[in-house]
Amino acid sequence: MTDVRPDAQRQHRRVFIRTYGCQMNVYDSDRMADLLRSLGYRLAESVEHADLAVLNTCHIREHASEKVYSELGRLRDVKQERHEAGRDLTIAVAGCVAQAEGEEIVRRQPAVDIVVGPQAYHRLPELLAEAERKAALKRAGKRLPGAGVLDTDFPAESKFDHLPTPHGVRAGSAFLSIQEGCDKFCTFCVVPYTRGAEYSRPAVHVLAEARALVAAGAIELTLLGQNVNAYHGEGPDGSTWSLARLITALAGIEGLARLRYTTSHPRDMDDDLIAAHRDVPQLMPYLHLPVQSGSDRLLAAMNRRHGRDLFLGLVDRLRAARPDLALSSDFIVGFPGESDADFDATMQLVDRVGFASAFSFKYSRRPGTPGSALPDQISESVKSARLAALQSLLAEQARAFNQSKVGQIVPVLFAETGRKPGQIVGKTPWLQSVHLDGSPRLIGRIAEVRVTAGHTNSLAGELAGLMRAEEAA
Ligand code: 5AD
Ligand code: SF4
Repeated sequence: MTDVRPDAQRQHRRVFIRTYGCQMNVYDSDRMADLLRSLGYRLAESVEHADLAVLNTCHIREHASEKVYSELGRLRDVKQERHEAGRDLTIAVAGCVAQAEGEEIVRRQPAVDIVVGPQAYHRLPELLAEAERKAALKRAGKRLPGAGVLDTDFPAESKFDHLPTPHGVRAGSAFLSIQEGCDKFCTFCVVPYTRGAEYSRPAVHVLAEARALVAAGAIELTLLGQNVNAYHGEGPDGSTWSLARLITALAGIEGLARLRYTTSHPRDMDDDLIAAHRDVPQLMPYLHLPVQSGSDRLLAAMNRRHGRDLFLGLVDRLRAARPDLALSSDFIVGFPGESDADFDATMQLVDRVGFASAFSFKYSRRPGTPGSALPDQISESVKSARLAALQSLLAEQARAFNQSKVGQIVPVLFAETGRKPGQIVGKTPWLQSVHLDGSPRLIGRIAEVRVTAGHTNSLAGELAGLMRAEEAA
């Protein structure tokens, strides 16, 4: 193994990390930052101040992947300017585009030095050393057999065993990856190919990381996984723990006020997990449960392994367990073969459930997935019209949900300062953003807020009771 200890030269290097896509990528970017910090790197605010640029990429839809290539073009220009000034910029592509496209990235953009997949980034120190060696040979005028350093393995060892403990916590809230990969193979989705087979971290490791995060200031943890409710990690006693069991154990950590998990699959929503929404007060009353479509025919074509009735039954049981539960979901419109009647079934499902928030997308044809080879692809104009109709119904529901909180006093965890001077922004238990006037000293803390207005995407409020008096003092 290459010697990767920090040396004097590395002490002052800077890394700029840009993150695309999901919360899992945000978690991975933070872990890469921790790893690079242990090599003496510091974080740079922009690429102009960096020696190393890492793009942590997303491959879920075509638009997300293409953004990466335009950003790489910009980085190539910065690298070129640096060369003219006798300095260097190392460019690394990480994440799901790296995994899916591998060498193709270096072919399309030769300025890229490192391509590293989401399961191999714990090897970044070695990859950087190798990239530096190659750069030195190039500078010495040597011809190299291949450009770029590539690692898109799914290594037998888990990256989690090779990463340092998380460094810090931003504003009281932290992500914690507990599960990765997916074995479901929905016919539209690249995740089983880019993130690999389902893997659950052992419960003791999750608990240790959770304790470290709480010790570092987290009062809210969001458990992450591509299929987080399929979690089946090894428990301390050797038995297999479900997500419900893990959540119950995590709720015992003193100082941890809020727990969330995302993203779930309806098929893995078991009785114990539904009961946890009733029994664990720290588990927030919000659930993101993607359904994708309300048509049984389309759900079958998507290989979702369940029908509309299973989903609606879950909604009823979840609401019986936790009456104030806010539901969120993902929808795809224009999957191959989607008829007007199929789309209508989606609208009816939305109407019946009433979502607090949702994400909806036009179907994007992803190379290598079964959906991309299906006949009867839907035209762009039909997709756009359906998306607009769905989004207008979802926006109406979000607004109604937000307005239902007006007049209530709710606990808010403050996350950041707002765009307007004197404003701070936080989250309710139902994951709504609330904007109000208050001191930045509240960031990372929970305070009671009276909701004064409900809009489509956020709430407005004012500090209530004690906190308001303290602020005034
Ligand atoms: N096209 C459009 N949306 C997609 N998603 C996943 N794959 C595709 C695709 N090929 C959406 C799904 C998923 C969310 C993360 O992204 O709704 O739940
Ligand atoms: Fe993709 Fe389906 Fe797996 Fe979710 S469950 S990651 S949509 S294949």
